[in-house]
Amino acid sequence: MRRRIAAFFESRLPLSDVVNHLKKPLPKHINWLFSLGSMAAFLLILQAVTGAFLALYYSPSPDHAYNSVKYISHEVPFGVFVRGLHHWGSSALVIVVFLHLLRVVLYGSYKAPRELTWMVGVILFLVVLGFGFTGYLLPWDQKAYWATVVGVEIAGTVPLIGDFIAKILRGGAEVGAVTLTRFYTLHTIWLPWLVFVLVGLHLFFVRYYGSAGLPQNRPEEMQGGKPFYPDQLFEDAVAILVLFILLAAAAIFIPVPLEELANPTDASYDPRPEWYFLFLFQLLRYFEGPLEVIGTFVIPTAAIVLLLLLPFLDKRERVPLRKRPVALAVTSLSVLAIVTLTILGGRSPKLETPSEPSIKQSESPSNDANQSEDATPEEDADDTPVFDFN
Ligand code: HEM
Repeated sequence: MRRRIAAFFESRLPLSDVVNHLKKPLPKHINWLFSLGSMAAFLLILQAVTGAFLALYYSPSPDHAYNSVKYISHEVPFGVFVRGLHHWGSSALVIVVFLHLLRVVLYGSYKAPRELTWMVGVILFLVVLGFGFTGYLLPWDQKAYWATVVGVEIAGTVPLIGDFIAKILRGGAEVGAVTLTRFYTLHTIWLPWLVFVLVGLHLFFVRYYGSAGLPQNRPEEMQGGKPFYPDQLFEDAVAILVLFILLAAAAIFIPVPLEELANPTDASYDPRPEWYFLFLFQLLRYFEGPLEVIGTFVIPTAAIVLLLLLPFLDKRERVPLRKRPVALAVTSLSVLAIVTLTILGGRSPKLETPSEPSIKQSESPSNDANQSEDATPEEDADDTPVFDFN
């Protein structure tokens, strides 16, 4: 009987083909650095699961968001743990995806025929940062509110379409009720669907082209290694378990910050983005007045375009890293610059804010009043306070 059932399923759904595919040997010398992609996939799933539990209690309106987050942290059983996992998980995701990107660069795995895998990866990285940006506003505390005011203003400096982007993000003249709804929707619906499709494509390409292994380009190097299933899968599982233990420890022992309730009238607040945006925040300070757009738009866009086109700019065959001094120098300098800017960004003095906040802000008595009921969402964008980044 069992055999007949097995034969029925095998004839309809030949799973043994999939298992045989996964049992094919990987290149020799694949090491734990090749587990970083699986760790990123695990973190995405963890974010989805913890986010789904947080959404059971979270309320995306300025009147309730802050208190619902407080309620999750103090009243809901295991709420503080789940929130901690989600919070530290997002930082871990950025670090792990960045290390995965570095691994791919250092092994030259972005080169032909893996250009598409790489380009989808770059977009995934941007989407991961998008999760960070939209999630930051949700607790609706001072930190969340003012960092978003600055973040949306930075988006507003994009030439030609900046105003449009800022209006779409804000949904009104100031960061307020509509902004919170939009960020929540982006964070929980739009970006997750995008990630789902992109990760599907990414993993399809990874399996289709096979893992790149060490860049020796010798046929014997590419064969005779251990199979993905069960060997590599076991190593990935161990790496994921260690990562989860570290995250659980962080969630238990390091409290997730929640500042005072957002006060849109308090323009004296010193806004800071999440740590992984600090390098950008610091970069802005080096460009004044009309040059501001270089820090807010030109350099970040050039960096993203260069990253996307990397496989087409560096078309030489894959060779070990020691034979790629330029790649090594550029990568090391870029990492050094990002780390230095991040440290400086954390220590930098407060951004100068206007001495008088806009009339609408100083007059708005409650948290949701700064987007009046009858105002059409996209009007009056010029009333927002202007920050001087220098
Ligand atoms: C959430 C984000 C991501 C997930 C879940 C993910 C997942 C994976 C997995 C599971 C692998 C196979 C194992 C490995 O090589 O580590 C892989 C390979 C790869 N990834 Fe990603 N990745 C992500 C982001 C990125 C980014 C940001 C880039 C680069 C910009 C990238 C480029 C690549 C490339 C080129 C490969 C093929 C490497 C090879 O064949 O050796 N990925 N990815």
